[in-house]
Formats: sequence, structure tokens, C-alpha cells
Amino acid sequence: MAEIARLSVGSEQLELPVFEGTEGERALDISKLRAQSGLITLDEGYVNTGSTRSAITFLDGEAGVLRYRGYPIETLCEHCDFVEVSYLLIYGELPTAKQLEDFRASIRRHTMLHEDIRQFYNGFPRDAHPMGTLASVVSALSTFYQDSLNPHDPQHVEVSIHRLLAKLPTIAAYSHKKSVGQPFIYPQNDLSYCENFLQMMFAVPCEPFESDPDFVHALNLLLICHADHEQNCSTSTVRMVGSADANLFASVAAGISALWGPLHGGANEAVVSMLEQIRDDGGDVQKYVRMAKDKDEGFRLMGFGHRVYKNFDPRAKIIQAACSKLLGKMSIRDPLFEIAQQLEEVALRDDYFVERRLYPNVDFYSGVIYRALGMPVPMFTVLFAMGRLPGWIAHWVEMMRSPTKRIYRPRQVYTGPTEREFVPVEKRG
Ligand code: CMC
Repeated sequence: MAEIARLSVGSEQLELPVFEGTEGERALDISKLRAQSGLITLDEGYVNTGSTRSAITFLDGEAGVLRYRGYPIETLCEHCDFVEVSYLLIYGELPTAKQLEDFRASIRRHTMLHEDIRQFYNGFPRDAHPMGTLASVVSALSTFYQDSLNPHDPQHVEVSIHRLLAKLPTIAAYSHKKSVGQPFIYPQNDLSYCENFLQMMFAVPCEPFESDPDFVHALNLLLICHADHEQNCSTSTVRMVGSADANLFASVAAGISALWGPLHGGANEAVVSMLEQIRDDGGDVQKYVRMAKDKDEGFRLMGFGHRVYKNFDPRAKIIQAACSKLLGKMSIRDPLFEIAQQLEEVALRDDYFVERRLYPNVDFYSGVIYRALGMPVPMFTVLFAMGRLPGWIAHWVEMMRSPTKRIYRPRQVYTGPTEREFVPVEKRG
């Protein structure tokens, strides 16, 4: 028998069922509230609103726990590569050796872009932000694969999933090649997912190229850490667009646009700009911590704070350790990494940050690793998008298959003028 919560509003007594998830999280089911009472709930920014039931990712922001399909992020980072984690997220179980090989083989088959898509890149300005290019080209994929867009046909969905996973690195690398005026490098299908991406990014036709295994390892780790994070802004956007039965390409293109914002995926780019600013300003981290505390400054420590993590972000820990290892191995002394560490140390001892439980998030150190890999700053958020893709797909598929799926349509509390008399333009003062 489901637990019941009782709510009294004026003289009315209302009963609301309590829904409990597998990890003991409890939620008031208010779906019948308006029908029963005329009331809606108001929660700007969805701070305390569960928009769905989901079996993909569990995170406990108080304890700093993150699990994909029940497996801790730390374990997956240690034992899997990104393609295996993508399979887990999308299909719900770790693959057998055969399933994994078939999955890899299918993704390899779809890595090339239609030659006409290559022409699109001529139309973008040289200095186009690669996130704008990425969203546009992903959206355009729907015009090339019109025979497989039905979100309710499992075969259409399956081929679209493989196409998207396979083509996103190619689309991303071409955006970079366009911006530096180098020839596009075709995918090479005997390489792994991450090797292939690094080759398309950094190889040129006139020289041999071999990717550094440490770079490949770091990239796999970064992509896994970004692969899903339940109902974040971009994933909720993908679900929102998909709830109208929009196709997978259109839904993911919308997610890419949401991710671009500096409060979301764009934060990794903003962190590096901030660290550069601190370095160029003499490296006084205390000054920037003071500025972040002063509301009149309108300045925030980018890469700090999280809507859900109020203890620490487990992804930040993994990435900081990887960063330290990679830079050590490459014998690089990156002043930005040193400033980042000092900033973290000062902020974590400061009452303002302690009281508000503001900790470094996933974006705080990821930019420093991307720099070490030679990634240009505008590509940082693109890498986030490549990592988040299996999460977006998994949520879109989960929603499409849900027997309780409905179009997303929040309500509002209107606060504008009540009915007014129209005044013709010549009589307005
Ligand atoms: N620097 C200084 N003060 C901060 C910061 C920060 N980075 N983040 C939050 N605060 C303060 C904020 O001013 C507020 O103070 P007060 O209670 O005195 O008004 C309090 O902490 C709560 O902040 P909030 O804005 O209400 O929190 P939120 O949950 O709405 O926002 C956030 C979360 C991530 C947008 C925010 O912490 C932020 O802007 N951080 C910097 C941007 C960033 O790093 N974003 C990446 C997020 S992780 C990856 C991803 O999801 O894409």
C-alpha cells in the first residue's frame, strides 16, 4: 500500500501518494493535484521537481555518489572505455564480449559523413563557434536520413543511435579543421573511438600521426565522466523536445544548444578564461575569491558549485587525479593547473564557500586536461557534448518507450496585467 501525504489548504484536506525510488528517494506525486484542488506547484528552475522516473543514473549530491545503471563511476572509469559505457547507458546492461564487438563494429561502419554534409562547412564563417556548427550539423543529419526518423520504430531508432555515436566525433573534428583552415581528415575505422577522434583532430595529410596512449586513456576517462548526469539542463531539453515525438537528431541538436550555455557545459571554457585572467593579473587567487563573494562584482568562480552536489563532485576528483598524473607524466608545469589548485585550496577554507557548500565541479579541472591534450579552448564544450551523447540517447529512448510518456508541458502562474481596454495607436500618450 503506497504511503499517503496529507496536505491541508484552507478548509480542504488533500491526499497525495508518495512514490519511492529504489534508492529510497521519496517524492510527492502531485499529478492529480490540480484536478482535485485547482492548485499547481511552483518551482522556478525545477529545483525540487522530479520530472520523470528514470532507471539510468543515480546520484546522491549529499554523499558525492554517481552510478550509471548501478555501477559506480569510479569502477567504470577503471575498467571500461567510453564505447562500453555508452552501451551500458543506452541498453541498460554491460555488454557481453560479442555484443560489445558488434556494437563497436557497427559504430565503425557509420563514421563517415555524407559528402554533401562536408559542403556545409564552407558556409560557416571561419571563426564560427564549433558548438554552433555541431548543433547545426547534427540537426541537418535528419535531412539526410529521412527514411529512419520514426521515434517509435525500433529499427529506425537503432540505426540513428549508431549513426549519431559514430558521426559526432567526425562532425566535431571537422568543425576544428574548418576553423584552422586544414583539410578534413577522413575517419579511419581500424582505430578505436578515441584514437580516431584524436587523429581526425590533429593529423594532417603531409605527416604521419600516431596518438599517444596516455592521451587516449585521458580522453576515454573524460568522456565517461561526462556520459550522463540524470535530469540536467541539456538532458531535460532532449527529453522536452523528444516528448513532442521529434526525431533523435532534432532532439539531440537541441540538447547541444542547451549545453553550450556557460552555466552548463560552457563552464569548462569559462574556467580556463578565468584561470588565464588570474594568471595575467599576477596570480593573486585571494583577490578572485574576494570578488566571487562580493555580490556587487557580478563575478562567480567558474567550475565551482553545483545544483545537486553539496559535498563534492566525484567526477571532479577523478579528473583532478588524472590531470595531475597526465601533467606529471608529460613533465608539464602548467601554471593554470597550479592556479586552479591554489584557488580550490583557498575557496574550500573560506566560510562563504563552506556555508554554501560550493565545491569544484566536473568542469573545474577538465579544461586543464583538454589543454594538455592540445585541444583548442572552443572545443572544450564540444568534448563535453561528445561525452554526454550516450546519456542524451539513453534518456530519449527511455522516455519514448515509457508507457506513461506524455508531451512535456509545464504550467505557470500568470503575473501580468489583467484584461485591459485596447487604445488605438493615435490615442496612446
Ligand atoms: N561562485 C560564487 N558564488 C556562487 C557560485 C560560484 N561559482 N555558485 C553559487 N554561488 C552562490 C550564489 O551566489 C548563491 O549565494 P546566495 O545564497 O548568497 O545568494 C548560492 O551560492 C547558491 O547559488 P545558486 O546560483 O542559487 O545555485 P544554483 O544551484 O542555482 O546554481 C550553478 C548552480 C552551477 C549554476 C552555480 O553554482 C554556478 O553558477 N556555478 C558556476 C558555473 C559552473 O561552474 N557551472 C558548471 C556546473 S557543473 C557541469 C554542468 O552541469 O554543466
